[in-house]
Amino acid sequence: MTTPTSTTTGRPDKHEPATLGFGTQSVHTGNEIDVGSGALRTPIVMANSFALPEDPSTLSWSGTGTGLYTRNTGVNQLGLQQKLAALEHGEEAVVLGSGVAALHAVFFTLLQSGDHVVVANVTYEAVYRLFTDLLTKKYGILATFVDSTDLNAVRAAIRPETRLVHVETVGNPTTTVTDVAAVAEIAHAAGALLSVDNTFTPPPLFRPLDHGADLVVHSLTKYINGHGDAMGGVVVGSADLIREIKLDAMVDVGGVISPFNAWLIMRGSVTLPLRIRQHCASALSVAEFLEADPRVAYVAYPGLASHPQHELAIRQLPNGFGGMMAFAVDGDADTQNCFVAALRVITSAVSLGHDETLIVHVDGSGPRVAGYPPHFRQFGHLRLSVGIEDTADLVADLSAALDETFGPA
Ligand SMILES: Cc1ncc(COP(=O)(O)O)c(C=O)c1O
Repeated sequence: MTTPTSTTTGRPDKHEPATLGFGTQSVHTGNEIDVGSGALRTPIVMANSFALPEDPSTLSWSGTGTGLYTRNTGVNQLGLQQKLAALEHGEEAVVLGSGVAALHAVFFTLLQSGDHVVVANVTYEAVYRLFTDLLTKKYGILATFVDSTDLNAVRAAIRPETRLVHVETVGNPTTTVTDVAAVAEIAHAAGALLSVDNTFTPPPLFRPLDHGADLVVHSLTKYINGHGDAMGGVVVGSADLIREIKLDAMVDVGGVISPFNAWLIMRGSVTLPLRIRQHCASALSVAEFLEADPRVAYVAYPGLASHPQHELAIRQLPNGFGGMMAFAVDGDADTQNCFVAALRVITSAVSLGHDETLIVHVDGSGPRVAGYPPHFRQFGHLRLSVGIEDTADLVADLSAALDETFGPA
C-alpha cells in the first residue's frame, strides 16, 4: 500500500488527496462535513435541479460543476469523482450510470465514422457487441480484435486510422493479463490512445494511468462499491479528456448516475483497501485448492504458476492477483451445472467483486469465445468471483460440491 507523502506541507491533510496514502484517500477523499447539519458524511442530495444565481446570464448550460442540473452533475457525483480520480492517480473522473455507460462514453466521445480501434479479443461482452455490431454498423467505426498478450499482433493490427486501443488489465473471463505499459507504447507510437478496463484489478492492485494508459474505466458495480447493491461506472484520465467525455457522453447523451447510487458507491469504497486484501488472499487459496483436485479440468488465475502470464502478473500486480478466476470441472455442461447447484455458500449469479462469492457457468460455444484458450471452448467455464467470507467455508463448499457431483476424490 502507498505510504502518505506530502506535496505541500510535509504532512498528510485530508483535504489534499495527493498528501494521503491509498487507505486514507479511500476513507476521506470526496467526503465533506455537511455545512447545514454538521453531519460527518456528505448527505444524499436527491434533487435534479439547483437554485440558479440571481443573474444566470454568465452560466454555461453545459457546465459540469455544481449548482445547475443533476445530468450535468450533483453533490454526490462530484465527491465520488474526486475520490476515484485520486485512487486511480488521474487528474479528473466522470461517474456514469453503469460500467457499460462508462465504456460507451469513452468510445462514443473519442471515435467517429472511419476511425479504427484495436480491441483485446478477451473483453467484456458489451464491448464485444459494441465493436462487432452497434458502433461498427450504426456509426461506421472499424474494429480489429487481437490477442492483447501478443505484442506483435497488437502492433500488426494498428492502421493509419487507428485512434484507440482498448484492453482489460485482467480479461473477463479468461483472466488473460495484458502488459499495459507495452501496449501503451505501441498505441502512442501510432498516435493512438489507450483505454484500459481495470474492473478486475482496482487500486491498490493496479493503476493503468501510472503505466502509460490515457483512460481507465471501471464498472463501479463491482469491487469499488463491493456490496452488490448499486450500479455505476467511471472513466478517469487527464482533465482535457474527461472534460470532453463529460460534455459529450454525460451532458448530451445522459448516462448519468443517480445521487443515491453515487452515495452507496462512495460508502462502499471506504472499505476497498480492506476488502481487496481478503479477496486476493482467499482467491489464491481457492485457486490452489481447485488446481490440486483431479476432478477439476483447469483453473485460470494469474496467481498460479500455471497461468500463461504468471511472470507478467507478478511484475504488474505486486500487491495481489485479484479475486477473479475461471475454472471448469471435468465434465460436460450438465456436470458444470450439477456442480454449481450443489454449492451451499457460493451463489450462482452474474456480476462480480461483491462481498459474497458468486459463480456463473458459461458454455464454450458461439462466436464470442473465438479468442479464448482451447480448454475454455472444450469445457466452458465457471467464472468465480471470490468474496470476503471465511476462506475455509469457501473451500469446504467447493470440496463438498465436488464430492456431490463426482463422488469423493
Ligand atoms: C470487466 C467489466 N467491464 C465492464 C462491465 C460492465 O459493467 P456494468 O455491469 O456496471 O455495466 C463488466 C460487468 O460485468 C465487467 O465485468
